[in-house]
Amino acid sequence: MPFSKQVFCFFLLFFLQQVAIQAQNKKPIPMDNASLYRPNFHFTPAKGWMNDPNGMIFLNGQYHLFFQHYPDGTVWGPMHWGHATSSDLVDWKEQSIALYPDSIGMIFSGSAVLDKNNTSGLGRGGIAPLVAIFTQHNMPGEKAGRTDFQNQSIAFSLDEGKTWTKYASNPVLKTPNIKDFRDPKVIWHAPTKKWIMNLAVADHVELYSSPNLINWTKESEIGKNLFAHGGVWECPDLLHFNVNGKTIWVLLVSMNPGGPNGGSATQYIVGDFDGHTFKPYTTDIKWMDYGPDNYAGVSFSNIGDRNILIGWMSNWNYANVVPTEKWRSAMTVPRELSLIEQPSYKNGIVKNETEIRLVSTPVKELSAGFTKTMSKENIVVEKTFSLSTVKNPIPNRIDLATLQAKDFDLVLSNDFDEKLIVGYDATKKQFYIDRRNAGISDFNEGFAMIATAPRFTKEAKMDLSLLIDKSAVELFADGGRTVMTALFFPTHPYTKCILQTKEGINLKSINLFSLK
Ligand code: FRU
Repeated sequence: MPFSKQVFCFFLLFFLQQVAIQAQNKKPIPMDNASLYRPNFHFTPAKGWMNDPNGMIFLNGQYHLFFQHYPDGTVWGPMHWGHATSSDLVDWKEQSIALYPDSIGMIFSGSAVLDKNNTSGLGRGGIAPLVAIFTQHNMPGEKAGRTDFQNQSIAFSLDEGKTWTKYASNPVLKTPNIKDFRDPKVIWHAPTKKWIMNLAVADHVELYSSPNLINWTKESEIGKNLFAHGGVWECPDLLHFNVNGKTIWVLLVSMNPGGPNGGSATQYIVGDFDGHTFKPYTTDIKWMDYGPDNYAGVSFSNIGDRNILIGWMSNWNYANVVPTEKWRSAMTVPRELSLIEQPSYKNGIVKNETEIRLVSTPVKELSAGFTKTMSKENIVVEKTFSLSTVKNPIPNRIDLATLQAKDFDLVLSNDFDEKLIVGYDATKKQFYIDRRNAGISDFNEGFAMIATAPRFTKEAKMDLSLLIDKSAVELFADGGRTVMTALFFPTHPYTKCILQTKEGINLKSINLFSLK
């Protein structure tokens, strides 16, 4: 049948030609930038610029996340408070803008509290007001070379954060002519029945108290010449934890630059607080997250005994120039913070004393968003082990446990010679994230680098949880003792994920998850 033979040959040739074209032109059409980098399970604004989380509070079943926002541009600009809500800490819905700049200034970082007893008198008709306390930054004042351009103002909402009214006599706390005087985080201190404001003041934190959120009295200060001082102190938070029946306090302080891997980072200080003074237990420098991309993190208000933190997943070194379009910056996943007491362990040496460390883990609510795609126990990996399946080439979460802390790498890669490596170096007792060849990095000189973090236990066994989104990873090792957050920007999505080791490794368990 000559005709059908001809047709067959035509299709065969056509098919072979297509295969040849595909092979020659390996590059698929570049994806549009928005879908390439916009994370699947990290909050991003629909459009415009975002930095610090602000005013996070839980109210009537809703978590509220306010954030530093410039809706009209993708670089830092006149700051507003954006707003998003979630009932489960996983799915966030962006709401309309909460606070707009005014003649006093832009709306910089701050916090929100539920004034249950209407101490402020701003409640109406039995409705307890939600009160936001924030810095107003006066740009003309700064440009004119004045020193009084950062002052603290308040606003209140009687409809669960939907609409806000600024207090008529703002600002409520004026600067004593110090340029860096900002980021009020307010908590209720039950024993003294007062509101306590922590404020970042250039190179230290100042604590103020108030009976009504309006009149503030300075109580004390902490931090001058102590702890890390590579940059300006910003966004403090004062949290308390119950450790074996004892209340222990932690002061979080973000600092830019001077972080352990360059640029912005958050340190923490453990101590006691009596409503007036914060007394640190030790003066050593401790970092909450060693990665380059977790900054300005603070905790939710009004959530009972839990301490849940969200951080801004970027770094002032390059936040304004990362290669995203339409939007810039994402938040970390919400993290549960807790304290552990353990033998003090520094530079690989166990000291004859105990220390208290802050540990972070992804909040348990996040599990509801993931399905397990692979679960294996007692595996011996000699060289490599694939963590890709046809359906899920890149897992969104890898949980693994080993009985011996040996070298290994988790490698995400694509067909374009780009790879991101998250690993452990047993000799140096260090975790690392190597993004030297992870993708686009020419927007900033220091972006292509290896970030490292110490291990904080000498235990042989090790566990690790790695969250993977389109342009960020978050590593929680040893139950959250070592945490690292890092961005990356592959030109094409990663399509392979392997575990590799030089000397072999025994995995006690490995579980992979993908997003539901
Ligand atoms: C921290 C910070 C804060 C300030 C805000 C301005 O990232 O610099 O100190 O309030 O950002 O957007």
